[in-house]
Amino acid sequence: MAKKAKQPKKSPKPQPKGKGGESVRILISGARLQRRIKEMAREIRKDFPGEPLHLVGVLKGAVFFLTDLGKQMPGEVSFDFIAVASYGQGTHSSGQVRLTRDLDSSIEGKTVIVVEDILDTGMTLQYLLRVFEQRKPKRIRVAVLLDKPERRIAAVHADYVGFTIPNEFVVGFGLDYAERYRNMPDVGVLSLGTKDEGRKS
Ligand code: IMP
Ligand code: MG
Repeated sequence: MAKKAKQPKKSPKPQPKGKGGESVRILISGARLQRRIKEMAREIRKDFPGEPLHLVGVLKGAVFFLTDLGKQMPGEVSFDFIAVASYGQGTHSSGQVRLTRDLDSSIEGKTVIVVEDILDTGMTLQYLLRVFEQRKPKRIRVAVLLDKPERRIAAVHADYVGFTIPNEFVVGFGLDYAERYRNMPDVGVLSLGTKDEGRKS
């Protein structure tokens, strides 16, 4: 006997805010991301030939970017991770940054490449750079996959930028909205749909 096709479950309750009408429009395909990341890895290595590079990824958004960047980078490379919290469940930053997980090892005397998913207001990087500079690295450079310069508040700059994007909320390739969409292989613009259109504060 043929099995009955599964029906989507009907929920009598209203959907969690934002989830119902959400849609994602692809902005940068996975293939484009990979091509650019390969170029960035070569660019960084060219600037520091023969030097051990210590990649410090900002969890969790930078995970895919760091792993792909690391794979494309010849020579001696080590990794570490740090985690900060700046965004809640919405699409607007509170402006406050707090360290939620510190590095495993010292960065003293190392050439550190801070690897971040996106540079938005700049508050996160400004905070991290202050923390790192106190720890006496040999030098620090910043690599970001995406840059949204229109929203900058803090005077920070990235040495390596994958793509400059317009002022839209993006998800995918590590970037999330309320912890979802990180696993998308592309970067896309999220729209919250009619009911929840507009940013949360
Ligand atoms: P900033 O402190 O405002 O520069 O924000 C940096 C952090 O906010 C990033 O590391 C992301 O985690 C998050 N963020 C900023 N813009 C977006 C976005 O468009 N989509 C998803 N996360 C974002
Ligand atoms: Mg981040």
